[in-house]
Amino acid sequence: MVKFTVIGGDSSADLAKRIARRLKAVYVKTESRVFPDGESKIIIKKIPKNNIILVVQSTYPPVDTNLLHLLSIVSKARNYSSKIYAIIPYMGYARQDREFLEGEVISVSVIGKLFRSVGIKKIITVDIHSKIALRKLNIPSENITAVAELVKYFKKKKLKDPLIVSPDLGGKQRANQFASLMGIESITLKKHRDRKTGRINILTSKVDVNNRDLILVDDMISTGSSIIKSTQFLKKQKCKRVFVACTHALLVNDAECRIKKAGVTEIVSTNTIPRNTSKVDVAKIIADAVL
Ligand code: R5P
Repeated sequence: MVKFTVIGGDSSADLAKRIARRLKAVYVKTESRVFPDGESKIIIKKIPKNNIILVVQSTYPPVDTNLLHLLSIVSKARNYSSKIYAIIPYMGYARQDREFLEGEVISVSVIGKLFRSVGIKKIITVDIHSKIALRKLNIPSENITAVAELVKYFKKKKLKDPLIVSPDLGGKQRANQFASLMGIESITLKKHRDRKTGRINILTSKVDVNNRDLILVDDMISTGSSIIKSTQFLKKQKCKRVFVACTHALLVNDAECRIKKAGVTEIVSTNTIPRNTSKVDVAKIIADAVL
């Protein structure tokens, strides 16, 4: 029988424990300290030998620190097994998958090199922002989706004539999948983001959402600008309530507060990033992907 060891990094300790319970695996915790100069010291004790080792660590902010922790844990774990899988529920840098403006480094390719150099044999991630990014990592990988889990949460809600809304064309397929599992329809807004300033504008001028409850579906919320601009537009179109469903709630700075101020009734995210909005657990779908 295959034996698993789950090592939980600092950024995903709770989720790692949940995955270990589902897999009936040995759970190994990591300890870390930060020195006054900002360097980290990572300590991992009692790793069993020759099991398949699953290192669980999301790379949300502080992104580079969490990334270095992941690399360090894997590097240590390599002394105990040749089969190391990295479970990276939220994969940072996945938006930097091409040279959008001249001179930009394709960071996700650099990260792929680092992953391979420490001995990661496979990656499991959830709703990665870009499939191109996954390919550029150049490592066997599996991208699973939390859409069905998010849908289960919303199916329990009493909603008035609900409609799914994608804030942009890039999220259209996800929104369609969400809508089809809910058994309702979806629409897609046209969004423009200025690559230099990051400023967002909604280009759609009119939609028929009068008195309907809406669920804005996105893969991630970072600054909240996409959700805020979409909500302001939809409110002007006289919708009823606006809910937000996303896999990864980065919610940088005061994003949550600004989103609520824009009129969003509820933000629902998963525990790929632990936040107060993390109402949906992805431990089961990750454990199922491992088996
Ligand atoms: C964009 O393509 C993504 O799917 C998200 O809509 C975007 O990354 C969210 O970022 P922010 O919250 O900063 O608008």
